[in-house]
Amino acid sequence: MTDAISQDLDQFAGAYQPGALYALDNELILNWYPHRVLDQAKGGSLLELGVGHGYATRILNGHFERHVIVDGSGAVIEQFKAQNPDLSLEMVESYFETFDTEERFDTICMGFVLEHVDDPADILTRFRRFLAPGGSIFVTVPNAESMHRRAATRPGSCPTSSPSAKATCSSATSGSSRLAA
Ligand SMILES: C[S@@+](CC[C@H](N)C(=O)[O-])C[C@H]1O[C@@H](n2cnc3c(N)ncnc32)[C@H](O)[C@@H]1O
Repeated sequence: MTDAISQDLDQFAGAYQPGALYALDNELILNWYPHRVLDQAKGGSLLELGVGHGYATRILNGHFERHVIVDGSGAVIEQFKAQNPDLSLEMVESYFETFDTEERFDTICMGFVLEHVDDPADILTRFRRFLAPGGSIFVTVPNAESMHRRAATRPGSCPTSSPSAKATCSSATSGSSRLAA
């Protein structure tokens, strides 16, 4: 296990609470892409990676016969369960890097998780094994080359003198996302 994943992910649970930095960006993007997944997915079973705020999970839930979600933070899982007691899904506490199952899924959804791991190719290869024949993997990641991010990361374009300026600048760098199906 690498140093990065042996870190306790629970320390980041606060980032997935209402009012956290990037709340608006997250609300806009994470409430949008799951609808594109639903447009293209064929039902059956769903394996989702990463709970976070739970936006995607709430939208995707109920559209599949079975919904399993994996997250490495017990605190994020408990937070989600407390806020969404009525959803029907199985939550598994595991790092993506070590998750294993005999089950095969019709749809696997990796929404804004690959940018959090050391080796995204390793995660794609590992989870491809859990795909049923004819199934689909959906991946969304931030666009590091977006116009907003490139402008905001030019030297001198990000005022850092006050907390509000930092927040505005950081928000501008999150850019847009792209979907590969
Ligand atoms: C940005 S959030 C996911 C957002 C969510 N998929 C959505 O689209 O609304 C990232 C989540 O991945 C989890 N996570 C990050 N790295 C992980 C890893 N290596 N293994 C398991 N979970 C991880 C975090 O605890 C967090 O809940």
